[in-house]
Amino acid sequence: MRILASLSVVAMSLITFTAPAQVAPASKSSHPSAAKTAQPQVAQTPPMGWNSWNFFHGNVTEQDVRNAADQLVATGMKDAGYIYVNIDDTWEGDRDADGVLHTNSKFPDMKALADYVHSKGLKLGIYSSPGPQTCAHYAGSLDHEAQDAQLYASWGIDYLKYDLCSFREAVMTAKSPDDKDEQMRLMIAAYKKMDDALKATGRPIVYSFCQYGWDAVWEWGPSVGANLWRTTGDIQPNWNSIYTILNMQAGLAQYAGPGHWNDPDMLEVGNGKLTLGENRVHFSMWAMLAAPLLAGNDLPNMKPEIKEILTNKDVIAIDQDRLGREAARAYSDGEVDVWTRHLSGGAMAIAVVNAGPDRHSTHPFHLDLAKLGLHGTQHGQDLWTGKEVDLTDNMPLEIPSHDILLVRIAAPK
Ligand code: GLA
Repeated sequence: MRILASLSVVAMSLITFTAPAQVAPASKSSHPSAAKTAQPQVAQTPPMGWNSWNFFHGNVTEQDVRNAADQLVATGMKDAGYIYVNIDDTWEGDRDADGVLHTNSKFPDMKALADYVHSKGLKLGIYSSPGPQTCAHYAGSLDHEAQDAQLYASWGIDYLKYDLCSFREAVMTAKSPDDKDEQMRLMIAAYKKMDDALKATGRPIVYSFCQYGWDAVWEWGPSVGANLWRTTGDIQPNWNSIYTILNMQAGLAQYAGPGHWNDPDMLEVGNGKLTLGENRVHFSMWAMLAAPLLAGNDLPNMKPEIKEILTNKDVIAIDQDRLGREAARAYSDGEVDVWTRHLSGGAMAIAVVNAGPDRHSTHPFHLDLAKLGLHGTQHGQDLWTGKEVDLTDNMPLEIPSHDILLVRIAAPK
């Protein structure tokens, strides 16, 4: 058990929790009602699957997507819950004279690809933008929303990520350079337009908003169909990015629930130079946040230890808990953050993250159970070692730098 002795309290003042400037304060929205009109039959728990962007970026091909589908099955990830195979940007070709969008040469036959993915018991996702162009400068859906939604449905698409991209310049600031409220109205209308178009197809399609958490999207997104909405700019496969995004999620828990989720961006587990501890923190905390678990790594070349992280059933069960109550940050003590999540059946998950840089420190961190609303010794299970653990008040914890203690308490008191 990683308990007793040694944890750094050096540089306790180094960590701050300031949200980046693009995230407007929640109170700014003029659309607070957020009546839940998102399709109730999809995303009752956070969507799980794989997305092409974080590993392949603009180079993804149909074969890569087929390989990913194969690997989801072969690795046991499908059995662990990873169902959506999502193609991100750069599949798009040109529109013909009738405005019908075609795929580019990297994706010769989208219907055949959808059939293949479905034949494995998986679902297929796709990507577009409300603007004239996607972020990678491929064709967007502006003025073709209904046509594109019908096209997706005809292929058998199950998930759409709709990425603001050029809509901002081409429509919001072009039509209303100085009026921020009008710009926001235009953006909301654009997301609603695609929601109407998707619903008109009659096909259940998960609707994922990607506009980087601007204008308190968590307040109005669900009312215009969002099953999930990005809360941040793009994630990168490094500790700084992951830890910054994590701390931006504090305060957003109240907006998430079955059918409508905060999306702190896709997983980087297994990408870049993340250490195993960093991968564990990332995966554990995305589960605590009830985040979509969309793996973004190179599945055919996945290392066993990465597969072990991505398929940790106890951690996935936290993410997928049917109550859908996202974790809140209970307190931070210098370099150490403690998050708690209420689970069905009265259970609770406690996550203690050591964000400190010092791997050889001698100062222990003492867990204050009263700050979590708990009294006396709590019996639980360490979800990374699998071992039983007793958390006693003020106990010293040893957690390596950039690593986590994740405990599930069945009967907290
Ligand atoms: C934006 C999104 C990313 C990805 C790229 C594709 O940057 O935030 O997740 O979809 O566009 O171009």
